This record gives sequence, C-alpha cells and structure tokens, in this order.
Amino acid sequence: MIWSIDEITRFLRWLCLFAMIYLFTKYLPLGLLRLVGEIAISVAVIWLIRREFMIWRQVTKARINYYKLLEAIPPSILGVLSTAKSLDAIAMKTRLPVYVGFRQVLGDRINDFSQIACSIHPNIKLAYSVKTNNLPDLLAYFYSKKVLAEVVSTYEYNLALRMGYKPSQIILNGPQKSLTIMKEVLGGGGRVNIDTFAQLEELSAWLKTQAKSIRIGVRIRTENRGLISHFGFSFGKELEQVMQIIRGNSHLHLAGVHMHVGTNIDDPRIYTHNVVKLARWILSLSPQEQKALRYIDLGGGFAVPGSTLLTEVGRVPEIKHFLHAAIDPLRKLDGFSQLTVYFEPGRWLVDEGFGLAARVLEVKRVGNKQDIVCQVSTTCLPLATSQSLVVTVWPSNSAPLISTTIYGDSCYEGDILASAIWLPGVKVGDTVFFHKVGAYNLAQANQFIAPRPGVVMVEKVKKIRLVRRAEIDADLWRRDI
Ligand SMILES: Cc1ncc(COP(=O)(O)O)c(C=O)c1O
Repeated sequence: MIWSIDEITRFLRWLCLFAMIYLFTKYLPLGLLRLVGEIAISVAVIWLIRREFMIWRQVTKARINYYKLLEAIPPSILGVLSTAKSLDAIAMKTRLPVYVGFRQVLGDRINDFSQIACSIHPNIKLAYSVKTNNLPDLLAYFYSKKVLAEVVSTYEYNLALRMGYKPSQIILNGPQKSLTIMKEVLGGGGRVNIDTFAQLEELSAWLKTQAKSIRIGVRIRTENRGLISHFGFSFGKELEQVMQIIRGNSHLHLAGVHMHVGTNIDDPRIYTHNVVKLARWILSLSPQEQKALRYIDLGGGFAVPGSTLLTEVGRVPEIKHFLHAAIDPLRKLDGFSQLTVYFEPGRWLVDEGFGLAARVLEVKRVGNKQDIVCQVSTTCLPLATSQSLVVTVWPSNSAPLISTTIYGDSCYEGDILASAIWLPGVKVGDTVFFHKVGAYNLAQANQFIAPRPGVVMVEKVKKIRLVRRAEIDADLWRRDI
C-alpha cells in the first residue's frame, strides 16, 4: 500500500509533536522557559486535535450523504444489480459499456404522477419532454401509456409521429418551430405555445389568407431564484404587445398559457411564485378572454433526489408538493375547474430509469483511496462534468467502502466521472454502474474519440432486450462524402 501525501503530512505532524514533548520533558529545566514550552505544546496539541476532528467530520458528512444517495436508488434496480446473471444476460446481447433502462422504474414514475395528479385536479395531463431522452423505445413506451409528447423541433415532431403519436397528442414548444409544423399541429388538434414575436407574426400573416380561426398558447417568461428565463414574453409591455396582435386578428384566439421555470428545481415555492403572477395576469384579461382559456401548461423541471446533478436527497420534496405548489394558486380563477393543466417533465420521468454499466480498466490504490479508470467517458455521461455520479459495483458486494475517484478513458485530463464517492475496493475487469443517467445524458452523448454505447432495456428481471445497438465506426463516417 502507498501512502498519500496527505497521510504522510499528517503522520509527520504528529511525529514532530511527540518529539517536541519528549525533548521538553527530558531536557528543559524548570522555570519560565519550561512554562512557555508547556503552553506551546498545549496549543499545538489542541490545534492538531481540532484539525483531525474537522477532517473526520468532513469525511463522515460526505459518507453519510453518499449513503443517503445510495438509499435513494429504486429497490427494483438494486435487485437487478445484486446478481451477476443479469450482467451475463446483457453481455450476450451487446458489449459493455452499455446504457441500461429499467421498465419498472419508468412505469412507476408514470403511475406515481397519475395517482397524485387525479387527487389534485381532474384535468391534469402528463406530457413527456422528448429532448430529455429521445430514445425511440422510450417514446413508444410513453405513447403506449397515453403520455403526451412535448416536442421542440421538427426532428422531435417527426420522431413522435414515427412512434405513433397523432398531432392531437403533441405539444409544440420552443423557439425553432416552423410554420409548416405549427399548421400541422394546430390543424390536427394539438397545442402550439408561441415563444417569439416572429412566430406570432408569421402565424398572423398566414391567417390573413385563410378563412379559419386558430387557438394558440403563449409562453410566459419565468423567474428562478433571480434568474429570468429568456424564453417567452414577460409580464407588462411584451405580453401587452402579444395581446394587441391577437386582438387585432379576428382569426387568432388565445387558448392557453405556458411556462417552464427551469430544470432540477428542488423548491416548490419557485412554482408558486411564478404561478401567482400568472394567475394575476389572467385575471387582468377581459372576461371573454378569460372564458376562452382552455389550458395552462406549467412545464417540467422537478428535481430527482440524487440525480446526475446530485441534488441532496433530503432536499427534494415529493412530487405532490410540486403539483400543489403549481396548481393551488390557479384555484382562484373563475373557470379553473374547466381548465386542463399540462405538465411536461423530462428529468423526473426518466432520470432514475437509466444507468450505465462499464468495465474497470485500471485501479491505483493510494493510501485508503482508490483511483479507477473505467471504460467509458464523460462524452457518454456529459452531465458528470457538472457533478459526480452515484456509482455501485455490479454484482453488488458488501466489502467496506473506500473513497474513490473514477476517471474516464478518453485520454483527456478533465475526464472525471465521479470524485470522492464511496465504493468497495475494485479490480480490473469488475463492472461499475452509474445510476440516474436517463436525463440529458443519452441525448447529449457525443462521439469524441469513440462511438457511443448501445442501450438495453430490463423489461423484467429475466427479460433483457437490446433496444439500440452500439454505434460502429461505419455509423460515424456514413455522412462524409
Ligand atoms: C419547455 C420545456 N418543458 C419541459 C422541459 C423538461 O424539463 P425537466 O427535464 O427539467 O423536467 C424543458 C427542459 O428544458 C423545457 O424547456
């Protein structure tokens, strides 16, 4: 075992102190000099003990928090990871590294949401934010569960159609919607929430050549801890201008309002703060305009305990608190019971439902710490660059945990997947499992240095399906002419 620099320094500090005590007691005469010596030694002892205590407290706190993060992993996932059989089953389908989806966890999230939503308001509808993870298998599953699709590009719209969605089951958002798709979604009975004046003018101009009316929604700018979103229109002048354009076109009607307060929101009061302002604005509209409102879309953003952004477990309230905080301020609206309320979460629905399995390529033990290099990089887990991930070994074992840093294999110095986490001692060839990577990782993974991994779905403990093969070199050079 090699000692780390920290451990050597701590050892030397204590050694110096004992040497000083020994020399003082042995050679110093009684009197003032001895008194000064004793005071100096006492101060040094207190200082060293305090330092040791602080190190111990820091390590214990980190350890307790990490254990809490481990406890927040859904038990059905731990069940699969407890055996080597499921890992063997994956190895028969595809090579590692591989993203692993857990159908049960994905299904549980939909059920949790639906059960709570119907106890709060009869007209709550769940839409899935496709950008969060655009895996076709996932979208097909949400479709089968009657979850609507929220899309923000032509590509996502086409993907949703490909997976079976009809325009009436789609919410079209975002700054890059084309007139063609807006017309298609509106014509098919779907929702379009206007983000920009350019979109509004374009629709308005097109309507002048038509003999029909359309109903649109508008996105409203939100505030999250002092940060104002740049999407949509702000209360006051901007919304006044929007209303003037709508009022000036007899074919254009305001049917909905949309807001999205941001992502990884762990404080429900942020929803209340924004929705209170929204309700006030709606109450300032004319009675006819208020009556014409059909829906309010409150976006997504709910945090996941111990997700890739490592929100502290204890700080993330249950989903019912978010829904109440967002919906309760709307109850004062006259037609509230008739309104449909949409939510369009991404992270909360899919983050926990995916992990990534990778082999260990190299282990260095330094003192009571280990540095691991594993066979995947932050290119496949881009969110790991903001904060480290929760990791376990597969199959799980109960050996004592030691402080661990995990590096990626991209030959890039900043490729750190997890630092100061707790893992049993591992060896080359073991498999580590990165938890809660379903949101924004698969969708943002890139091919820097190597092609991207495949995806398997654990349908049941004994049924594992390959839903996306691993990328091969030819996939990468297919576009080049
Ligand atoms: C308009 C809109 N709705 C929903 C979402 C999903 O957010 P989250 O994954 O945080 O739930 C996003 C994400 O950026 C968004 O921009």
